[in-house]
Amino acid sequence: MKLKKILLLSRDPDIIRIFKAFHNEGHTVTVIKNISSACKALDKFLDSIDLVFIHQNNSKEDYSPLIQMINKRSISFINPHIVVVDNRKDNFALKIGADIVCHRFPDEKDIDLIIHDDRSSLNLNAIINHAASMIRIKDTQTAEHCRNTAKISSALASLYMQYFEGKSLLWHQNLKTAALLHDIGKVLISESVLRKSSRLTDDEFRIMKSHTKLGGELFKNMMNAYPGFELLSLCAEVCFYHHERFDGTGYPDGLKGDGIPLEARIVAIADVFDALTSDRYYRNARTFDEALQIMRYEEEGHFDPKLFDLFVNNSDIFIQIKLQMK
Ligand SMILES: [Fe+2]
Ligand SMILES: [Fe+2]
Repeated sequence: MKLKKILLLSRDPDIIRIFKAFHNEGHTVTVIKNISSACKALDKFLDSIDLVFIHQNNSKEDYSPLIQMINKRSISFINPHIVVVDNRKDNFALKIGADIVCHRFPDEKDIDLIIHDDRSSLNLNAIINHAASMIRIKDTQTAEHCRNTAKISSALASLYMQYFEGKSLLWHQNLKTAALLHDIGKVLISESVLRKSSRLTDDEFRIMKSHTKLGGELFKNMMNAYPGFELLSLCAEVCFYHHERFDGTGYPDGLKGDGIPLEARIVAIADVFDALTSDRYYRNARTFDEALQIMRYEEEGHFDPKLFDLFVNNSDIFIQIKLQMK
């Protein structure tokens, strides 16, 4: 297992003790007690850090400069993963670019899982970053869309965890990765279809739709080679099913309702919101209000109603995220 590098921002002795145990196992845990020291520490070795854990702990110190610095300067989209524990109900940290906000301190078991995540042993992060670069080389518009979809999905999954039990920090991190790669199948679609500025013919649309299966098969093959990795099965499901619709009229398999994996239902909302609010080769970006109207009325039946309510009720968060990604 690859040893992790973790930056912990906390003044709570109990929390520090939990993380010191990981340090004693061989992981590198740097404990920082204030934001300016954290910014200085990260400035030197940002890209080697796997996890930034910010424990707000009733401190009035503003941690936004730290999160903004990470999002601005990090080369990898996967690392560092930013976990914030902050009990303020407005989810401030999501708006400024944290990956997940927990309103109370997570279980020790949950932290243990994310620290000991097996993806490191396969060097999956390197494979994932490589795959993300392939998308960038193929088409910058698709690459930006994948990055935005990951950030929006990550925030929606974070809200989901605040309202519904049963999901872990590791699940959340894996979902963010899967969302980043949801359109990886487009790497195999010809540029003439991908960048066409006018309406696609039926044949071209059939080719475009095949990106779901092409991406899904890629991860299914990896799963056969490396069985037991939840990350790979989650990537496969998100690639296959992010264009399914809750009413059963989507593709590739016409899955319906809860038959569509939860992760694909989350990514579906992020995917459409980002697509509508971004310029496309065939049209200009819609305003946020227009996008929300389209998602509510023209796309009726598309989304899981429970998740869509969560999305609409917190639309200010997603708008902030999108503004920051521009
Ligand atoms: Fe897609
Ligand atoms: Fe997409």
